[in-house]
Amino acid sequence: MTDFDKPLCRRNSGSYKWDFAEKTFGAPGLLPFWVADMDLPCPEELVEALIQRAKHPVYGYTLRTKDHFNSLCRWFKKMHSWKIEPQWCVHSPSLITALSVCVEEFSKEGEGIIIQPPVYRPFYEVVELNKRKLLKNDLVRGEDGVYRPDLENLEKLCRDGAKIFILCSPHNPVGRVWSEEELLGMSKICFENGVLILSDEIHCDLVFNGFKHIPLASISKEHSMNSVNLVSPAKTFNVAGLQESAVIAENTALRDRISRRIYSLGLHVSNVFGSLVFEKVYSSSDHWYKEMMSYLSENRRVVTDFFNGEFTGTFVMPPEATYLAWVDFSQTGFSAERLDDLLIKKAKVALDPGGKFGDNCDKFKRINFACPRKKLRKALERIEKAISN
Ligand SMILES: Cc1ncc(COP(=O)(O)O)c(C=O)c1O
Repeated sequence: MTDFDKPLCRRNSGSYKWDFAEKTFGAPGLLPFWVADMDLPCPEELVEALIQRAKHPVYGYTLRTKDHFNSLCRWFKKMHSWKIEPQWCVHSPSLITALSVCVEEFSKEGEGIIIQPPVYRPFYEVVELNKRKLLKNDLVRGEDGVYRPDLENLEKLCRDGAKIFILCSPHNPVGRVWSEEELLGMSKICFENGVLILSDEIHCDLVFNGFKHIPLASISKEHSMNSVNLVSPAKTFNVAGLQESAVIAENTALRDRISRRIYSLGLHVSNVFGSLVFEKVYSSSDHWYKEMMSYLSENRRVVTDFFNGEFTGTFVMPPEATYLAWVDFSQTGFSAERLDDLLIKKAKVALDPGGKFGDNCDKFKRINFACPRKKLRKALERIEKAISN
């Protein structure tokens, strides 16, 4: 059994979350809960396999084996009842690389690309740095605190000539697992208006009891042919630093264009450690995954009980998926600046600022609860003290 309670020191390991917190938040000694990776160990068998490979003193050009995408197909069939073929898959180093390649390949400069804020910041950059027009279809937050897609506005944007819709499924940071009805609604509008869907499903395995992730392309052949699905072991197995993801496209014409672009950028050659990790985790880490999800579920309970109970002025919709909680601090009565001051300078915790994800979100914070429970409790105590006194 993996001991997820055991503290892991990540300082001075080149960790983005730990070693760059001071520079990013402008204060020393912060307990970090921002960047979306886990302070939990990845599967032991993976560490062993990496050590064994590292002992071989040649790290020459490497190609993926036949089992590379077979392991991905096995995983998706078992976890998501989605039957995909290895030949539908194309490699990409990071998921954002693939997203950017698709944006370049399937749209032209100045053309419109839809995203649904509040959403993962790099979606904005993938559109704007590629000189495309950013079209926002803001999610609508109900009185129950649940965010839902605005289908009417989506249809308008599609009719007005958008080329691509970037779907985040499950959605970071609001933690929604889209229902079949919601997916069908969004997908149908795109299909009818000739808008291609790029479906980022990087968080698809991190779904809590009571919810089920539906891969967009699994809904029907029609929807599959009008979409490109992007997946990765980075979040599920905590291997983001190994930079190995995959693009799944049943549509041969779309897939060939992506493959050619990946090849032209020289991104098709495998990273010796990344490809090993990809194949290994998708083929033999089922047990670790179950244990890890059970640990995360309890952390999710701790976070939601805290922000919705003991502590007043905050609210969080229990995330249906992801290890990220989107906390609304607006009822605390503090201005956004004062809130930052209290959290960073007084509580000494680094949470992702809401404004990074969307407009009018500066009283929201995103907290990453994938860490040993003791670290999480320590942060919550500090937040309580800083905000209550
Ligand atoms: C929705 C989403 N997509 C993509 C990524 C990053 O993936 P990668 O590091 O493979 O580019 C993240 C990381 O937080 C994410 O939340």
